[in-house]
Amino acid sequence: MRVLVTGGAGYIGSHTVLALLRAGYSVVVVDNLSNSRVESLQRVAALAGRQPDFVRADITDKAALEAVFRRYPDVSAVLHFAGLKAVGESVAQPLAYYRNNVVGTMVLCEVMQAHGVQRMVFSSSATVYGDAKTVPVPESEPLKPTNPYGHTKRVIEELLADVQQANPGWRVGILRYFNPVGADESGQIGEDPQGVPNNLMPYITQVAVGRLESLQVFGDDYPTIDGTGVRDYIHVSDLAAGHLAALRALEQVEGVRAWNLGTGQGYSVLELVAAFERVTGKKIPYTVVGRRAGDVATSYADVTRASGELGWSAQLGLDRMVSDAWRWQRTNPDGYDKG
Ligand code: NAD
Ligand code: UFG
Repeated sequence: MRVLVTGGAGYIGSHTVLALLRAGYSVVVVDNLSNSRVESLQRVAALAGRQPDFVRADITDKAALEAVFRRYPDVSAVLHFAGLKAVGESVAQPLAYYRNNVVGTMVLCEVMQAHGVQRMVFSSSATVYGDAKTVPVPESEPLKPTNPYGHTKRVIEELLADVQQANPGWRVGILRYFNPVGADESGQIGEDPQGVPNNLMPYITQVAVGRLESLQVFGDDYPTIDGTGVRDYIHVSDLAAGHLAALRALEQVEGVRAWNLGTGQGYSVLELVAAFERVTGKKIPYTVVGRRAGDVATSYADVTRASGELGWSAQLGLDRMVSDAWRWQRTNPDGYDKG
């Protein structure tokens, strides 16, 4: 079975391509390399002992996508990762986010429809819940994102539901990821953010490797165990396995179905720092600063639905997330650039 993976050269996509190849799927990746390097796929190929096909193209480019679907008539499902994901940037450049994420998904759906491909697994985000009233957050929580990035994810979820409604043959899995971290245990592929990382784990690993001086902890006056923000960190390899589970589930599940992918367990910023120091023996200097605008105190997933319907649950705990993130950073201090 051939799967088309948009955004497959990126962080989560590359780990999922590896899992797909290892499970025997044929893969074609479509990526414009706006936030990734093709080297990630070369490393995936070396790890898997099999090559994914790669087409450099932008998903907003209909002619280019048409050409891909013509060249690969055996594609039977799409894993759709391609998108822009920086919350702050989305506030400054909303139109770029709507064009890339929403228009890109529209074009992708049009071309899929024209070629009779009706299976999709879409990368949504826990950001669609905004400041959720119920924690752990169930999938039934109202979708109230608080920034343009989150709005694009909600709009895409609604767009996919409308497409499926009009075309009952479609089957769509919506995966709402909580906080993906870590790297393949080989240390060969991992997260390679451009510029200064926005997210906590890559910031910590860059402090540990000496690229950054110290961590700023955004607020210690939240109503949490130690005052710092609590999140549901999930190992990227568990996330990759969740995509394969969703793909298989679409054989049975009709319509559109959303699943949270998290561990169901929350950790504070200081707990993550402490785990990193304990596991790696590296000291992470930090200072507490004010809260970051838009952050919520606590967010972790109710994972009952994914475990019941996908037969999937996260297997790797915080220590593995930390040690794998560190192995990747330590052996590739400058990411794919000089790794
Ligand atoms: P990433 O930036 O590493 O990967 C996204 C990939 O899509 C990149 O390789 C990029 O070059 C490609 N891309 C972007 N726009 C494209 C376009 N128009 N055409 C073709 N390719 C394009 O990000 P990631 O962390 O791997 O995230 C993958 C998906 O998961 C995204 O949709 C993101 O919004 C979602 N997500 C990520 C997180 C997270 O914390 N990493 C959390 C929740 C959801
Ligand atoms: N934090 C710091 N210092 C930093 C970075 C983060 O203290 O330098 C704190 C944040 O305040 C938060 C926690 O660490 O309490 C996690 O922050 P991240 O930026 O790593 O993750 P977020 O939960 O803010 O957001 C991430 C992605 C979003 C996605 C969301 C849910 O960035 O795109 O997870 O999936 F929507």
